[in-house]
Amino acid sequence: MKTIFSGIQPSGTITLGNYIGAMKQFVELQHEYNCYFCIVDQHAITVPQDRLELRKNIRSLAALYLAVGIDPKKGTLFIQSEVPAHAQAGWMLQCIAYIGELERMTQYKDKSAGKEAVSAGLLTYPPLMAADILLYNTDIVPVGEDQKQHLELTRDLAERFNKKYNNIFTIPEVRIPKVGARIMSLQDPTKKMSKSDPNQKAFITLLDDPKQIEKKIKSAVTDSEGIVKYDKDKKPGISNLLTIYSILTDKPIPEIEEEYTGKGYGDFKADLAQVIINTLTPIQQKFYELMESSELDEILDQGAEKANYVANKMLKKMENAMGLGRKRK
Ligand code: AQP
Repeated sequence: MKTIFSGIQPSGTITLGNYIGAMKQFVELQHEYNCYFCIVDQHAITVPQDRLELRKNIRSLAALYLAVGIDPKKGTLFIQSEVPAHAQAGWMLQCIAYIGELERMTQYKDKSAGKEAVSAGLLTYPPLMAADILLYNTDIVPVGEDQKQHLELTRDLAERFNKKYNNIFTIPEVRIPKVGARIMSLQDPTKKMSKSDPNQKAFITLLDDPKQIEKKIKSAVTDSEGIVKYDKDKKPGISNLLTIYSILTDKPIPEIEEEYTGKGYGDFKADLAQVIINTLTPIQQKFYELMESSELDEILDQGAEKANYVANKMLKKMENAMGLGRKRK
């Protein structure tokens, strides 16, 4: 069985973009692959986080993984900071990464743009992400389009390490969904939907209630043409909404366009809001049950135990390859 690794940052409540671009795929892939699902809390602290909010988001994200359909008997669900090998391996990979290649990362440029003080962690986060992936002999990493550049760097670092020290890493492949790899902001459809967007109307979280969903979809930016038609360049707003509708209903876009011929954006938006509500209601019910149960902590404890076991084996190989510590029998 091939291995899949994927991480999501607990930097807010996850959005419909994270769900469509990443989580929805995980649910489908868990049946065919050996899966590691990681809550990458150490990545979240590359930008300032409120302590209590972060703790809450970590727990919520764990419950959401399970609520969308991740089966802890099939995959391993765990929290990154509970597996110290990630930070240790991340440091070793930082030492073989070049500052120039880290500065070229578009996510670093976007997140640091206009900021007076930028943490060093924001720059060195890609080698930590590489460590997350490489510790588990990962074959495939399913991500949204925004993570493609980081994955290319992961491959480069793995190849560099294999060549320079010892051939220990599997070179992972990136898997990007054909549709929905980049769900856009509802307020600025030229920008990706992000959970840390300061404008709450720009995204829908998996925990938004029906009223919030209706309001956010109603105020989603479209155009003045009033024709429900997919045209990513000329009509980015309506195209984004059509993509969401199509993925959540499994209906091809031309079929949806046909259904709304002669109808305006008002009808389409009201129906889309209902489609989203229908998708999220069962997820939310499961989520609130899990948050009340002790099952969640048991699953995370077992996940951490299994992940520590696998990650420590690779960490030892890395230390041996680089000559760290003492030789042990
Ligand atoms: N808008 C998106 N469309 C499709 N996929 C997306 N992903 C993120 N945004 C979209 C995918 O979700 C997974 C988890 O992402 P992450 O939380 O690790 O970090 P991110 O990519 O930086 O996501 P956000 O929501 O934009 O977080 P913040 O605001 O904290 O930076 C990844 O597979 C990602 O591709």
